[in-house]
Amino acid sequence: TRRITVPQIAARKGGEPIVSLTSYHAHTAAIVDKYADFILVGDSLGMVMHGMDSTVGVPLDLMIMHGQAVVRGTQRALVVVDMPFGTYEESPQMAFRNAARIMKETHCGAVKLEGGKRMAETIRYLTERGIPVMAHIGLTPQSSNVMGGFKTQGRDEDSWPLHEEDARVVAQAGAFAVVLEGMVEPLAARITKQISIPTIGIGASAECDGQILVLEDMLGLNPKPPKFVKVYGNLGGQIEAAVKAYAEEVKERSFPEEDHVYR
Ligand code: KIV
Ligand code: NA
Repeated sequence: TRRITVPQIAARKGGEPIVSLTSYHAHTAAIVDKYADFILVGDSLGMVMHGMDSTVGVPLDLMIMHGQAVVRGTQRALVVVDMPFGTYEESPQMAFRNAARIMKETHCGAVKLEGGKRMAETIRYLTERGIPVMAHIGLTPQSSNVMGGFKTQGRDEDSWPLHEEDARVVAQAGAFAVVLEGMVEPLAARITKQISIPTIGIGASAECDGQILVLEDMLGLNPKPPKFVKVYGNLGGQIEAAVKAYAEEVKERSFPEEDHVYR
């Protein structure tokens, strides 16, 4: 089967909601691949997979390794890989060089980068040169040191015009979709109505054209998930029960059993 394409995602504006999850890992990505329109190899992997306290320290090589794992593990969904902090902000040329590495080494279908108006020139530079870009505005975790933490955006109505401008400008610059993260519902609704590309919400209400969650959060692996996460599974509890049972059986020598032994 052929993968879902960037234009197919863009064409979903205002239509059937776009389904997306993050994945960093071949076996989980293969499951997500059956149901998601696109899979994001998010730089949240620094926190989720590697225990970092923010995404600021995530290296490009790590994004590429996890991007390769997810592309290998999937066949249907579009795979989008996050550009990590420090690999694209300086100039469009620098962004192109690093985005091209991601595309060539992972065979993903698009990259995502954080920032609105300030990244418009870069978004245009990349898309005009063959690299599809998903934008990401609102709460942008790579700027958490400037924002003073992870703060919901748009609580003050005076800030709405700036966020609306960010959304308009990234769409005009050629982004094929835009993630709205951590944003009050009325602002997400206004932006979704105002622009011609799909909005993908995370903590930004059902007014968006699609939704994304961090897989480990919705599976119940994060002991303290953010408020906007609906926890659909209890993987943490299931893993603990399995590990506990294994430990007990090893100690009492009831594992391995007959079926697990070479005779
Ligand atoms: O890194 C990530 O997982 C993301 C999503 C939360 C949108 O950027
Ligand atoms: Na990210």
